Amino acid sequence: MAKEIKTIAVLTSGGDAPGMNAAIRAVVRTALFRGLKVKGIKRGYNGLLNEEIIDMEARNVSDILQRGGTVLGTARCLEFKEQEYQKKGAEICRKHGIDGIIVIGGDGSYRGAQALSRQGINTVGIPGTIDLDIACTDYTIGFDTAVNTAMQAIDKVKDTSSSHERCSIIEVMGRNAGYIALWCGIANGAEDVLLPEKYDYNEQEIINHIIQSRKRGKTHHIIINAEGIGHSTSMARRIEAATGVETRATILGYMQRGGSPTAKDRFYASIMGAYAVDVLLQGKTNRVVGYRKGEFVDFDIEEALQMKKSIDEYQYEVFQVLTI
Ligand code: ADP
Ligand code: F6P
Repeated sequence: MAKEIKTIAVLTSGGDAPGMNAAIRAVVRTALFRGLKVKGIKRGYNGLLNEEIIDMEARNVSDILQRGGTVLGTARCLEFKEQEYQKKGAEICRKHGIDGIIVIGGDGSYRGAQALSRQGINTVGIPGTIDLDIACTDYTIGFDTAVNTAMQAIDKVKDTSSSHERCSIIEVMGRNAGYIALWCGIANGAEDVLLPEKYDYNEQEIINHIIQSRKRGKTHHIIINAEGIGHSTSMARRIEAATGVETRATILGYMQRGGSPTAKDRFYASIMGAYAVDVLLQGKTNRVVGYRKGEFVDFDIEEALQMKKSIDEYQYEVFQVLTI
């Protein structure tokens, strides 16, 4: 028989993402509306192990919908990869009467949720990352805000680049994932995008591209480089030496992770937060919420972690076509 859920908790884990607060708010208010008690766990799995657990009422989540970051705080907790600490986490949940936990984060955070589920605590994950790199879902909370922040910054750099007839290498976030870079490549009309999933480190090709573009009359050359490839400053020096075109590097960094979430992030986060509570109430565990083909859905965490996601070849080709 499915375990009866009376009290749930919510935590945020891994890198923060705009919209996490909207998800926290939705979890808290949906759970209260459904007659559950709700607790907030501060600082991810660290806070669980340190029993940083607070009661959440409707007013605790007032005025957070529009704020970036996460009011619960987030952390990376390496200890939680060990079974001893996972057992301790589950015991702490039982001590505080917590029957189920909603974890807002990425793939790593779902492994923690999976471990807790194995220890008898019902768990549901919500995809929260600016990287869009969670395979089971077409949408991750934070991506829309981050990509719009990056796009606006790149527009500004492009103005200077065009005015001075320079080449600009702009580094965007994405250690293992090139979605922000590809989207900006298309949305900013860049000349090159370097994606961790595709880049072959053939700098000569970029150099040739800059020289040809100049001959075709382009006054700027925007290269969007994903963080995972990095080394934008030294790349700029080499490109300038090889092409004779003044080249500058701009690293956008954490400005892409913060800031007030867009309507899209607030909307998806709100639906996903509510949906996660309802998944727990159906007695399910070890699940992760996703948005696929226009619908909110949930998957077994193991199944979700086995799924693969790659850069869409057609989208990449369109980017290349539009650079002519
Ligand atoms: P993300 O959730 O964004 O992928 P991380 O990979 O940094 O971020 O994971 C966040 C946290 O999830 C880790 O600091 C750790 O507490 C927990 N975690 C990651 N991997 C595991 C694992 N294999 N088992 C248990 N917990 C894990
Ligand atoms: O998950 C978002 C992200 O910005 C990744 O692109 C990057 O690899 C990672 O977080 C860096 O996180 P931190 O600097 O907090 O370790």
